[in-house]
Amino acid sequence: MVKFVLQDRVHRVEGADPGMTVLDYLRERLARTGTKEGCAAGDCGACTVVVASLAHPETDGAEPGLRYHAINSCITPLGSLQGKQLITVEDLQQGDALHPVQQCMVDQHGSQCGFCTPGFVMSMFAHRKTAQSADRNAICDALGGNLCRCTGYRPIIDAATAMFEGSTQDQFTHTEPHTLALLAQLTIDEPENTPGYDQPASVDQLAAILEQHPQATLVAGGTDLYLQVTQSLQRFDHLVDISDVAELSTVRQEGDILDIGAAAPYSDIRAPLVANFPSLGELLDRLGSLQIRNRGTIGGNIANASPIADMPPALIALGATMRLRCGENTRDVMLEDFYTAYRRTILQPGEFIERIRIPLLAAEESLWTYKLSKRWEDDISATCAAIYLRLEDGIVADTRIAFGGMAEIPRRAPASENALIGTSWNEANVRIAAEKLTEDFHPISDFRASADYRLSASQNLLLRCYLESSNAGTPIRMHLHA
Ligand SMILES: Cc1cc2nc3c(=O)[nH]c(=O)nc-3n(C[C@H](O)[C@H](O)[C@H](O)COP(=O)(O)OP(=O)(O)OC[C@H]3O[C@@H](n4cnc5c(N)ncnc54)[C@H](O)[C@@H]3O)c2cc1C
Ligand code: FES
Ligand code: FES
Repeated sequence: MVKFVLQDRVHRVEGADPGMTVLDYLRERLARTGTKEGCAAGDCGACTVVVASLAHPETDGAEPGLRYHAINSCITPLGSLQGKQLITVEDLQQGDALHPVQQCMVDQHGSQCGFCTPGFVMSMFAHRKTAQSADRNAICDALGGNLCRCTGYRPIIDAATAMFEGSTQDQFTHTEPHTLALLAQLTIDEPENTPGYDQPASVDQLAAILEQHPQATLVAGGTDLYLQVTQSLQRFDHLVDISDVAELSTVRQEGDILDIGAAAPYSDIRAPLVANFPSLGELLDRLGSLQIRNRGTIGGNIANASPIADMPPALIALGATMRLRCGENTRDVMLEDFYTAYRRTILQPGEFIERIRIPLLAAEESLWTYKLSKRWEDDISATCAAIYLRLEDGIVADTRIAFGGMAEIPRRAPASENALIGTSWNEANVRIAAEKLTEDFHPISDFRASADYRLSASQNLLLRCYLESSNAGTPIRMHLHA
């Protein structure tokens, strides 16, 4: 049974298919059709709903209270709502009175076709609940996962700006103590099993379940896996949802290692990652949309084994290792040794990624990452480059150059690296190393980019890394939303 808070009450769902999405449940079972289905692939945001959950100050450092997240209901498992509050567009209006966010959309003429409007309103609502003030970049980021096909963005951004002029108080503020009590009770209640959908609360429970059922399918955020449900109509007999395994969401520093739980969503790990590796800021901000980053996890990105995933090149370049666990046994492996062939990894049945461990950078070390995609926001990379450098007296003492989108797996560029190691970090030598990329990679042409584009763009990214690193670290890049 799945239990979550809906309209100030505990809502119970029995007998749902384990793979059912939040969107299908809302539209088909509850006839809450305000939430729309556009793409059913996490791309358009028409299905955006808001999930509020208890903050865990001891593990996530958040203020006590509720945390509001916009998510794509079309690719979110219904079971993941266990112990949370679900807020849909129907919950915003009270009688004839529009919620202040809806009123701003009306006042600023932000709705045209109307099909995308509920999704925009829910993204705005979540942003109003989490942001302190109107900041255009933050608003664009909050709306980056919502498509308006009739180019109404300007009035929508105006509406999102205007909503900060009013009070933060709304009906959810008034019912928050009641909601907190309901959610606290749900965490104490003995969970009632949903056949085919396990939700371990601890990593030991997870290991035991997988040892007993090695063929079960793990789901973390579901932002990759659930595309198989909605696009390929695949059914999973046994899902194991790891999004509530507290230990898998922690981030801690152990000496000179940043140690991240595999099921930590991007939104939660951005701050510690960027504090230590500033170049990851832009990469993370361009990974999917906010809705995707609120659910998607670093472990899911690695395990999904896509050659165009954005995190593996950076993690390989940083020399990251992973702790894999099967039952009571653990093993530590380098991320660069994880992939064996196109979408194949060394993970054994019953084994899972427990933690990702990233060595921190010393003063003479640096990381440079670049993502090239057709669209700035919410788009998959054509190629993604990550360059680790250790410079000693202007000489390349060590480098790891890793690419996504250039081969069947994310991997390093040994010929290019060897050309650089021991040489002066200057333009002539970088150009030689860039030329060596033709030995390292023979990329394919597909709808994202041609092979020629991939190769020459990758060579230019190496050169760009040189120019930026020798220009006091000043990035050469476009500034959007100015
Ligand atoms: C609209 C959209 C935009 C996207 N944009 C980007 C992008 O810009 N860049 C990018 O890199 N990706 C992108 N993605 C892909 C996806 O969001 C990421 O790969 C994300 O990190 C996947 O994490 P998840 O937790 O949702 O994985 P899930 O979907 O839950 O799982 C993915 C796979 O990993 C397995 N798995 C999950 N966790 C573990 C674990 N701990 N141990 C072992 N196996 C595990 C699952 O069984 C499954 O096979 C996008 C996806 C969508 C839908
Ligand atoms: S329906 Fe398009 S993101 Fe969900
Ligand atoms: S208002 Fe719906 S697509 Fe623009």
